[in-house]
Amino acid sequence: MIIEHRHQPIDRRQLLRWIAHTSAGVAGLGLLGCSDRPELAADAMPGTDGDGGTCVPTSSDVLGPYYRAGAPSRMVIASPTEPGDRLVLEGVVVGGTSCMPLAGALIDVWQADKDGRYYEPNGAEPYRLRGKLAAGSDGSWQVQTIRPGNYMLGAASWRPAHVHVTVSHPGFRTLTTQLYFEGDPYLPPNDGCKSCGSDDPARILPLVPTASGLRGELRIVLA
Ligand SMILES: [Fe+2]
Repeated sequence: MIIEHRHQPIDRRQLLRWIAHTSAGVAGLGLLGCSDRPELAADAMPGTDGDGGTCVPTSSDVLGPYYRAGAPSRMVIASPTEPGDRLVLEGVVVGGTSCMPLAGALIDVWQADKDGRYYEPNGAEPYRLRGKLAAGSDGSWQVQTIRPGNYMLGAASWRPAHVHVTVSHPGFRTLTTQLYFEGDPYLPPNDGCKSCGSDDPARILPLVPTASGLRGELRIVLA
């Protein structure tokens, strides 16, 4: 099977975030010639960003009933004609106590359409809004899609919009989780799925408008 890789180099902002989360990266500041720049050194010190500079594994979430094995290898999972707001999700996959990038980590992604509908396997496009890709040599990953919609659970409850992923790499525990988005009215306490993990702020992504649509970023940490 050919797995699509993301070969674009990690950009400066991603690099700085990676540095801020890794002891190796902090040690590498000198190699990068950054140690004499207080503003960069301050950004990079453990404890100044997000999870406190530690390599905390990304939390898991329920698989749900709509996973289908065998998704095609692609990073663009929404066709140009797919309705909805364009969305780019990206980041790095890291792991281990040193939080090093995991080259080639396998990411399987699936989601509902803008109206909250999952594509059924007997439909005309059984893998619509689904794909499988591998992180680049620097652990970077990117998925080009549309923002999924909310959907109902039963007659009266709703789920916050989300994107499902599984992430695997040899020697690490396979992660099954979901990514959510800031500002969703059905985030806890309003998530109709009480067994879901939508209350983890690390997986509730701010979406930033760009010239080509929305962008969200997540560093995925495997245990
Ligand atoms: Fe779902």
